[in-house]
Amino acid sequence: MAAPTARGMLELIGGTPLVQVTCFDTADSELWVKLESHNPGGSIKDRIGLSMIGAAELDGRLEPGGRLIEATAGNTGLGLALVAALRGYKLTLVIPDKMSQEKVTHLKALGAQVIWTRSDVGKGHPAYYQDMAERIARESGALYVNQFENPANPLAHETTTGPEIWDQMGGRLDAVVCGVGSGGTLTGLSRYFARVAPDVEMVLADPRGSVLAGYVATGTVGIAGSWLVEGIGEDFVPPICDLSRVRSAYIVDDAEAFATVRTLLAKAGILAGSSSGTLIAAAVRYCRDRAARPGAGPARVVTIVADSGAKYLSKAYRDEWLADQGLVQRPGYGDLRDVVARRAGDAQLVALAPDDALRVAYARMRLHDVSQLPVMDRGALTGIVDESDLLVAALAGDRAFERPVRDVMTTKVETLPPEAPLSELVRVLGEGMVGVIVDHGSLFGLVTRIDLVNYLRRQAAGAT
Ligand SMILES: Cc1ncc(COP(=O)(O)O)c(C=O)c1O
Repeated sequence: MAAPTARGMLELIGGTPLVQVTCFDTADSELWVKLESHNPGGSIKDRIGLSMIGAAELDGRLEPGGRLIEATAGNTGLGLALVAALRGYKLTLVIPDKMSQEKVTHLKALGAQVIWTRSDVGKGHPAYYQDMAERIARESGALYVNQFENPANPLAHETTTGPEIWDQMGGRLDAVVCGVGSGGTLTGLSRYFARVAPDVEMVLADPRGSVLAGYVATGTVGIAGSWLVEGIGEDFVPPICDLSRVRSAYIVDDAEAFATVRTLLAKAGILAGSSSGTLIAAAVRYCRDRAARPGAGPARVVTIVADSGAKYLSKAYRDEWLADQGLVQRPGYGDLRDVVARRAGDAQLVALAPDDALRVAYARMRLHDVSQLPVMDRGALTGIVDESDLLVAALAGDRAFERPVRDVMTTKVETLPPEAPLSELVRVLGEGMVGVIVDHGSLFGLVTRIDLVNYLRRQAAGAT
């Protein structure tokens, strides 16, 4: 197959590959994934960036050089920013203040103006990001794109994603498994297949905590919880989201979703975003359920890798993060060892040697985002270096960063045995020290305040 040539990046939006995945037990069905991560902006949302801006140009809502406004720091922001940059429009994005710096840096580098707002307020509050974007648009005359109500959003999928899938599957397709963020993908694909191949089943994949699967089952909107996969799941049914053709919905919890994307990378070589774990886990369950249906033969099922896992390397693909979230099961001890996030025995502990220079200590603290490090000499703990030791050394004069760690480390380290009560750990942390858990003379790991918070949070959620 000839590789595509293009007269610019916008021509490379869409036309994404479809690849069969065989590393999951799908009974006798075939599972295919559409790699929307191959779009130039890295996600499925490039398609709607192009279609929503294109529609506004066509009907005159957007003048040459005009300003667009949207409320998102997610993939839609990137899709819009890419198209706006290449077509000469200005873009303002209203972003809740919990968004990752990496995403915001990417958006700003594409030329978008970023307005921060609070993330702790809900719909109806003037600082809620969507209400704020709408108000700024009204007051400034900028065009509020609003993917949740914009008909050009589902239209992009009806006119591009749907026909591509149908064509790539050679017209032999039994089901499409979709997640819902705005509902654009599911609605557009539903409309396309209703026309072209009404027997194709539309299946919803929903994170546990989202209200949509419950809505499909009962017709009522329940109370939303929280979930960690990004880009899908809602606490309301978006206005453009048409779920009327969805017959089955699968609820997937975070642990299963993250385990699934990890398998997808390890076994199929596909670096997918976290939502793909939800979609693929649901698709696998659908395939197996279908095999048990009387009279239903092997199916050909398509689902979507909506964005790349490159954005989630520090989360979904990092064992420590999964452990902090209580998403991987590790052996529990029923004592202070369960509070340790990075265990020395699992080779997860970041440490220094006594002869390491302070610049190494500094670099390692920055790299791992920690404020103190244990100093280990032939497997034994000999001291601790923290930020204040570095500061004192740095203030003391030149070449401070060439001095060995042993010169500045604290050697009087208070240690705790695993069976010490939690109150002892709380006291140590309260005195500004790090908890050092030593089991029969060997270091088990360190405990910081945030490790303790994470542990208590996991316990409250019922995880071990
Ligand atoms: C990361 C991500 N964003 C967006 C979507 C779909 O969004 P929408 O419902 O807005 O089309 C998906 C669906 O799989 C997704 O995984």
